[in-house]
Amino acid sequence: MSEAPTAARIRMEALAPHLHEAAQQWAQRLGLAFDDVDAGFALQLGEAGLQLAELGPQAPGPVRVDFVEGAVAHRRQFGGGAGQMIAKAVGIQQGIRPAVLDATAGLGRDAFVLASLGCTLSLIERQPLIGALLEDGLQRAAIDNEVAAIVARMRLLQGNAISIMADWQDEAPQVIYLDPMFPHRDKSALVKKEMRLFRPFVGDDPDAPALLAAALNLASHRVVVKRPRKAPIIEGAKPGYALEGKSSRYDIYPLKKLTP
Ligand SMILES: C[S@@+](CC[C@H](N)C(=O)[O-])C[C@H]1O[C@@H](n2cnc3c(N)ncnc32)[C@H](O)[C@@H]1O
Repeated sequence: MSEAPTAARIRMEALAPHLHEAAQQWAQRLGLAFDDVDAGFALQLGEAGLQLAELGPQAPGPVRVDFVEGAVAHRRQFGGGAGQMIAKAVGIQQGIRPAVLDATAGLGRDAFVLASLGCTLSLIERQPLIGALLEDGLQRAAIDNEVAAIVARMRLLQGNAISIMADWQDEAPQVIYLDPMFPHRDKSALVKKEMRLFRPFVGDDPDAPALLAAALNLASHRVVVKRPRKAPIIEGAKPGYALEGKSSRYDIYPLKKLTP
């Protein structure tokens, strides 16, 4: 990462002296320096966990993974439960809580929604920086009384989902969920802030067709692809049907009927 252009360069920071040693471990793992004065971003370790911050006067606030408070927690409590479109898309019904592989985990929001509804989740993330934020968020959630039981159902794997799925040794996931990056995504304030932060590191996932093909090879019951509502389908196999919401669409590739 240290060879990236200045604007996309990240330095490591410890926000308190006693966190320096732990910050050093993250720095080593991710190949980040503490003294990169030209960096445009900082990965900061503070009392509230690991966060990514853009540096400079116009920068938005930092982003971290928080399953305990904030937007994700609010959605867990008030977000419509099993009636949510994502729940229908993966096939949640009375007596059915499929085992789901979320192969494009990102900050883990969608996976957390499904885990709060009782599904077991494997998550894969290939961007090491996002993987680090997610790992840290899961660790902090694991020691919280309210959400520990939920994140106990979430297992994070880091690497490229295309090869991890091709080498999969465990029982095949019933449902594979894909939400690759797409150039024009929904414009809610939260997503906009995160997009601005992550765009320089993540890009547009042009290998989505290979991801879909690998998922269709592995899933036992269905593959679900989340897209912006007006976006074309991922190139390759055609979905059996789609569920459309206000800003997103779920393309469903059914393989076998889910039963209780
Ligand atoms: C739009 S974000 C997913 C957001 C996620 N659904 C959430 O709720 O937070 C897409 C993520 O998928 C990851 N990704 C894309 N292709 C991947 C692949 N082949 N293997 C692993 N991760 C991948 C990207 O690095 C990015 O973090």
